[in-house]
Amino acid sequence: MTAIDLAQEFPQDPAVVYLNHAAVAPWPRRTADAVTRFAQENLARGATHYPRWLNQEATLRQQLAQLIGAPSTANIALQKNTSEGLSAVAYGLQWQAGDKVVISDQEFPSNRIVWESLADQGVEVVEVNLAGPEPEQAIIRALDPDVRLLAVSSVQYGTGLVLDLASLGAACVEQDIWFCVDAIQSLGALPFDVNEAQADFVVADGHKWMLGPEGLALLYVSDRALNALRLHQYGWHMVEDRGNYDTHHWDIARDAKRFECGSPNMLGAYALSASLSLLLEVGIHQVQRDLLARVKYLEQALEELPQVELITDTGRPQRSGIMTFRHREIAAESLYQQLKQQGVICACRGGGVRLSPHFYTPLDRLRQAVALIP
Ligand SMILES: Cc1ncc(COP(=O)(O)O)c(C=O)c1O
Repeated sequence: MTAIDLAQEFPQDPAVVYLNHAAVAPWPRRTADAVTRFAQENLARGATHYPRWLNQEATLRQQLAQLIGAPSTANIALQKNTSEGLSAVAYGLQWQAGDKVVISDQEFPSNRIVWESLADQGVEVVEVNLAGPEPEQAIIRALDPDVRLLAVSSVQYGTGLVLDLASLGAACVEQDIWFCVDAIQSLGALPFDVNEAQADFVVADGHKWMLGPEGLALLYVSDRALNALRLHQYGWHMVEDRGNYDTHHWDIARDAKRFECGSPNMLGAYALSASLSLLLEVGIHQVQRDLLARVKYLEQALEELPQVELITDTGRPQRSGIMTFRHREIAAESLYQQLKQQGVICACRGGGVRLSPHFYTPLDRLRQAVALIP
C-alpha cells in the first residue's frame, strides 16, 4: 500500500457508500483544499499571480500527458467536456458522402450522437454489436474501405466491457482509418498507453475516475491528425503568439492549444491537477490493482446471491471498475432507488444496477452495500 492516508483524503459521509465513480466522482480532500485556496487567493489578490496560475495549468497538461503516455504536452488540449472534444474531431475532419464511421452498440450517447449528426454530409454510422465472444474481431470485421473513422469507448459505460485498443489501433493503422477513443471510463482507473493504442484522438472529461470536477476534459490529438482537423472556434488564445495583443498578424498555434479558443478554466485546472496528483502519487498500476480487487470482491459477493445475475462479463481478459448486475425479481430502477434511499450511491445503466467503486473504497463499505440488496 501507499503511504497516503486514504481515510484523510476521502473523508466521506459515513451514511453514504459511494459506488458511482463511473458517473461523477467525489473529490479527494486535496482537491477541495486546492479549490478553497484558489477561492481565497481570488478573494484577496485577484489574478495578481496569474503567471503562477499558468504554471499550474502547464502542470495539469503534463499530468494528463503522463496519464495517457503521450509523447508531449503539445498533443494535449483542454476542452469543456468529452462531447466538445469529440465534436472538434467530428467537425474538424472533412467528410465525403458515403464515408462511414464505425462505433459500438454500447456507446454512451456522446460518442454516438456526434457521429450521427454528420448524416447531412452523407456520413453513415455503423454500430457493431459487442455481445459476442470476440468484440474486437466484430469491430475489425466492420472496417471496410468506406470506413474513415473508428470511434469507441475504451470501457463501455453500461457493462464495463474493456476493449483491447492495441488490436483495434493496429487494424486502423493497417487500413488508414482514424482511431478515436473515448477514454473517460479508463483514465484514472486503468493504465492507458496512447502509443500502444495508436490512437489519433483520445477524449475524456475529468469528473469520473480522475476524481476531478465536471467541465474540464482532455483532448489528445496525434501529430498526424493535428493538421487534418479544420478549426471551428477562433480567439486570442489559440494563436502562436498569444499575449501579443498589439499585432494584427496571427498564426494558428502549432500545437494542440489551437483547440482552445479563449481563457482557460483555471479553477477546474487547479482542481483536476490536485486530483491527478493523488492518482499519480499512488501510481496508476497500484490504483488499478486496488480497484480490481474491489471489483473482484463485488463479483464474488454478488455471485453468492441467488436472486442476482451479473451483466458484466467476468470472463474477459481485462476488467474495469464497473460491475453491473440485475435482480431476478426487482426492476433495476426500483432496486437502484431502494439502494439510494439507504445511502448506496450507484446508477441504473446497462440494463441493470451499475456499481463503480474506486481504488480507495473501504471494503467494509462494499460489504455494507451488498448486504443491502434484498
Ligand atoms: C463513455 C462516456 N463518454 C462520455 C461521457 C460524458 O460526456 P461529457 O464529458 O461530454 O459529459 C460519459 C458519461 O457518463 C461516458 O460514460
